[in-house]
Amino acid sequence: MATKSLICLEEYEEEARSILDRNAWGYYSSGATTEYTLRDNVQAYNRYSIFPRVLVDVSLIDMSVRLLGDTIDMPIGISPTAMQCLAHPDGEKATARAAARMGTCLTLSSWSTTNIEEVAKHNGSHSFRWFQLYVYKDNNLTIDLVRRAEREGFKALVVTVDTPELGLRYGDKRNKFSLPRHLKLANFSERDSSSLASSGGSALQEYVKKLIDPSLVWDGIDWLRSITRLPIVLKGVLRADDAREAMKHDIQGILVSNHGARQLDTVPATVD
Ligand SMILES: Cc1cc2nc3c(=O)[nH]c(=O)nc-3n(C[C@H](O)[C@H](O)[C@H](O)COP(=O)(O)O)c2cc1C
Repeated sequence: MATKSLICLEEYEEEARSILDRNAWGYYSSGATTEYTLRDNVQAYNRYSIFPRVLVDVSLIDMSVRLLGDTIDMPIGISPTAMQCLAHPDGEKATARAAARMGTCLTLSSWSTTNIEEVAKHNGSHSFRWFQLYVYKDNNLTIDLVRRAEREGFKALVVTVDTPELGLRYGDKRNKFSLPRHLKLANFSERDSSSLASSGGSALQEYVKKLIDPSLVWDGIDWLRSITRLPIVLKGVLRADDAREAMKHDIQGILVSNHGARQLDTVPATVD
């Protein structure tokens, strides 16, 4: 297939809409409920202006930044997005190679359709990768993910704390979202990902209800701190008091995020 030349994000989005099936497009594009925050996430950028200095030497530009003791080539990283093989057979492998080539940070979702080990291989031994962790009701599932991430050279755990339940996404509900049979959540056994295959509603919503710990509080973060020496970043923090609380719990970073407006509608735009 000839590759179309897409030159900006909007064109990639348009192309994706035209080639993905309903199930995949609905999953990738939906925000929570009325999608007020989804729209606001984009519109918010228009409320900020850039005031550039002139007559500054830009013949050599170094955009590198330090991040938890490492250096990446630009202050833009890749956030975790689940189930990338819904869009392309190379899925997470392609993203891992691209992140390495661009010298930036890859964060791999717990719910990837390529397993931790395979992604690490494609990201390369000198690359900078973090692992996004959901905390499971079954501690053994969580511990297994942590140990594999450690073993495969992931340099931090990004613990998503805005998903005690999955956000209500009308698109997924309407489409009865499910993972096609040829794909699976590759970090888990058949038993632990089987509920995603068929469903009467959104399969992912049921999966979260069944397996993810909705009772997770700060004690659970202390437990996680006690089982790993990797830095911990909390993803989904939107309030200063939660950020201060994180510091008390020996957390190395926060990722200010509204989860792409997919969890709670009417929260502030992330950039705000
Ligand atoms: C299709 C899709 C899947 C996502 N999957 C995950 C995931 O598995 N884990 C997670 O923590 N965040 C997930 N996210 C949220 C993103 O990591 C990220 O937070 C969001 O796209 C950008 O919003 P932000 O700037 O508010 O962070 C997903 C987002 C999208 C669009």
